[in-house]
Amino acid sequence: MDLELAGKVVLVTGGSDGLGAAVCNRLVWEGARVALCARNLRRLEATADTLRAQGGEVLALPADVSRAEDLERFVKAAHERWGRVDGLVNNAGSASAKPFLSVTEQEWEEDFQLKVFAAMRTVRLTVPHLRAAGGGSIVNVLSIKAKEPGKNTTPSSVSRAAGMSLTKVLSKELGADGIRVNAVLVGMIQSGQWNRRAEASGKPVDEFYAERSREAGVPLGRIGRSEEFADVVAFLLSARASYVTGTAINVDGGLSGVV
Ligand SMILES: NC(=O)c1ccc[n+]([C@@H]2O[C@H](COP(=O)([O-])OP(=O)(O)OC[C@H]3O[C@@H](n4cnc5c(N)ncnc54)[C@H](OP(=O)(O)O)[C@@H]3O)[C@@H](O)[C@H]2O)c1
Repeated sequence: MDLELAGKVVLVTGGSDGLGAAVCNRLVWEGARVALCARNLRRLEATADTLRAQGGEVLALPADVSRAEDLERFVKAAHERWGRVDGLVNNAGSASAKPFLSVTEQEWEEDFQLKVFAAMRTVRLTVPHLRAAGGGSIVNVLSIKAKEPGKNTTPSSVSRAAGMSLTKVLSKELGADGIRVNAVLVGMIQSGQWNRRAEASGKPVDEFYAERSREAGVPLGRIGRSEEFADVVAFLLSARASYVTGTAINVDGGLSGVV
């Protein structure tokens, strides 16, 4: 299946590790030009080097998506480099799930800056470029908790639900410009953050993942691989998803209790 992504310019936030890096990798493989950002410069450059070694046309910029000025720099630099933008993946984020009464005001604020304000800002900055390109695709990376919040999952389940709402609103407002907006709801997928938890547990990574999958009761019987996530994102960014907008797709091995 030709995704027709060759030559397209796609921005990926949090592209230096885990799921975002897998998306960058897949996009480079498809011949797309990729701009990625993250905070840690060393990891960002290492990932960018790996992508370039595969022939990728890559722009890597240090940026904290919680800061409006960093996002402005990121989007501007990508547009200046290639003169167009065709896609955006709002992926940067980290886990934050605690009992409601233990979440501080500051933690609520930080989580919303990282997951809601960042997406709102990148979309606002990118839409004029997508319009100029004649349309495009935005993918918001969320969590299955957006649809099925459980106890001890704040503030993330709330900020992720906001991301789902934003996805739907934008799909309705931007459809006339040929801009599609979708969300991918992640269950448990191997990534940098999970690998770090495995390391901290002192257990071999495979054993750690198998235990987490059993505990959670993942119907497919395993934690997902980041490439499996990247395949879905690449599809949503591509011409093959040209009639798909306003959806929130679970990529979770069947873990979510709701469709
Ligand atoms: N993997 C899962 O099972 C799972 C489940 C549910 C939701 N998710 C969501 O999926 C997305 C990717 O997660 P992951 O598992 O791939 O995590 P990861 O392996 O920790 O990677 C996160 C990426 O985001 C970047 N990042 C984090 N905070 C940032 C910030 N403030 N500004 C810019 N970049 C930032 C990180 O780089 P720096 O730290 O250097 O900035 C890194 O590149 C996140 O939004 C996460 O919440 C993942």
